[in-house]
Amino acid sequence: MSHATSPEPAQPKQGSTSSAGAQGASSPTSSLDAEAGSEKSHESTECDSATQKTPPGAPTASELPPLTPRDFRAYNRLAEKMDYFHNHFRQSWFLLYNACTSGRRPSNMSLKQFIDEGLSLVQYLEAHHSIEETYFFPLLARKMPEFRSGAGGRAGELVLQHRQIHAGMEAFEDYLRRCRNRETELELPVLKEKMDSWGDVLLRHLDQEVLTLGAENMRKYWTLQELRSIPI
Ligand SMILES: [Fe+2]
Ligand SMILES: [Fe+2]
Repeated sequence: MSHATSPEPAQPKQGSTSSAGAQGASSPTSSLDAEAGSEKSHESTECDSATQKTPPGAPTASELPPLTPRDFRAYNRLAEKMDYFHNHFRQSWFLLYNACTSGRRPSNMSLKQFIDEGLSLVQYLEAHHSIEETYFFPLLARKMPEFRSGAGGRAGELVLQHRQIHAGMEAFEDYLRRCRNRETELELPVLKEKMDSWGDVLLRHLDQEVLTLGAENMRKYWTLQELRSIPI
């Protein structure tokens, strides 16, 4: 991906949870074990407890004692790492989308680089979601309904969002491939249409998944010992 040459992304429409941590990594999805940049404030990934569900029988956030800074960091570990990966997706998305709304590609990118940026976004999102649904979500789904696969029941909200993202992403990818193969000429208004169909759900998902993994939500479901055993 060409993040090193990307211009500053615009402010996300949906209100990104963080703008830090997006610089300099080479592959956001090759493994969720990659070291995440962690010099971020608690506010960037702290769960808004008012928007999160409390599991049956579990105490609400207001009934729980305040977390010490050390415990907050431990509980917030998964959110921090996830936000690091998601920042790559946000940055790539807004590079492409800003070009569509301004009618101009970034001046430092060739047409091929620009098209490849979009195709890389697709490739990395597919890999990221595949890793999540294969390794990460099944562990979390033991206690958290948002991550349920849907086998034998309704899929969790975050899994449903993956499906919505991929439905829109297919037409976006198909268009960019046809542009790269010179079957059609890239038109930014057409590309914008292909992005608008899944942009809202993508940006909502990138924020909501991080919020769900935030300390104040995770403490409702998991002990610190259990959380440490989740391998990302
Ligand atoms: Fe994710
Ligand atoms: Fe996800």
